[in-house]
Amino acid sequence: MDAATILEIRRRSRPRRLRHSARLREAVRETTLSPSDFIYPMFVVHGEGVRSPIASMPGICQLSVDCAVEEASRAKAAGIPAVLLFGIPASKDPTGEENFDDDGIIQRAIRALKRALPDLLVVTDVCLCEYTDHGHCGVLNHDNPALPQGYVLNDETLDILARVSVSHAQAGSDIVAPSGMIDGMVECMREGLDEHGFEHIPIMSYAVKYASAFYGPFRDAAQGAPKFGDRRTHQMDPGNVREALKEAALDVAEGADFLMVKPALAYLDVIRRVHEAHPELPMVAYNVSGEYSMVKAAGARGWLDERAVTLENLTAIKRAGADLIITYHALDAVRWLRGGSDEEGAREHG
Ligand code: PBG
Repeated sequence: MDAATILEIRRRSRPRRLRHSARLREAVRETTLSPSDFIYPMFVVHGEGVRSPIASMPGICQLSVDCAVEEASRAKAAGIPAVLLFGIPASKDPTGEENFDDDGIIQRAIRALKRALPDLLVVTDVCLCEYTDHGHCGVLNHDNPALPQGYVLNDETLDILARVSVSHAQAGSDIVAPSGMIDGMVECMREGLDEHGFEHIPIMSYAVKYASAFYGPFRDAAQGAPKFGDRRTHQMDPGNVREALKEAALDVAEGADFLMVKPALAYLDVIRRVHEAHPELPMVAYNVSGEYSMVKAAGARGWLDERAVTLENLTAIKRAGADLIITYHALDAVRWLRGGSDEEGAREHG
């Protein structure tokens, strides 16, 4: 190409023409956030009037059922369509009995929320780690010498997951979300739900969940840290993406209704690849606790503009292919999208 041609192209094609005013930028924006993109996670504890702040997650509390209903109505009023519930039981044991107790913390929370806010979607996390005394996501091996001591047993865990999901559905959960990365969890839960007349309850599978250090603050919030070892024998290695496609394909074959990638920000490429491999399924991304806390911490020190960074992060997750974003920033984000101030947020949070 000669110099004159290059100049001519440059004269005609000037991308900056579409950027010079806010109106124009808005008109050509490809990805926009809306409150209906978000799912707001909540941690529910026993008791009444409990709002106990989680030190490593500023703005997020463990809530008793009554306070969870208040917090969820705030989310509903903000236009957020769904909450994701994690339960913290009264007591823990090797298999996590309260997980499928009709009077367990999650079952109580589901019933209270559905009674108070019938239109709000209640999604419930299905895993063992918050309920077991050892903090692992499944039943542990003690007797099989062929497997390591403390190995998370796959098929023994599946039966419990099916039982938990049926219990959640009986309490009124709208969507069950298995998060343990146990092989066959979707199939087993589908079968359990169908057998009990819950063919209509969708499964939002944490299909691609990495063994990530970004879950640190969550483990304070849900009190479900493993007492020994780690989760690397079931959660994925951060270096892998072909394996993510395999996990997602299996979950689709097993009957998953939603696919999820978790964490989100360090795995935008994975969100994109899984979404492109399964465009027919709604794609969910979990913007996890550590991703939230990093922004909060830097924002509190004045090192980053929390509002701008949060909206940029959430936009990036959506641009990567997520239809729904599970995020602790949901209430903040809606307020910022509506142009509200931080002072207003502080008042709302009391
Ligand atoms: C439980 C579970 C975890 C998260 C969601 N469900 C923790 C873990 O796997 O250790 C993490 C969520 C977050 O960090 O926000 N299996």
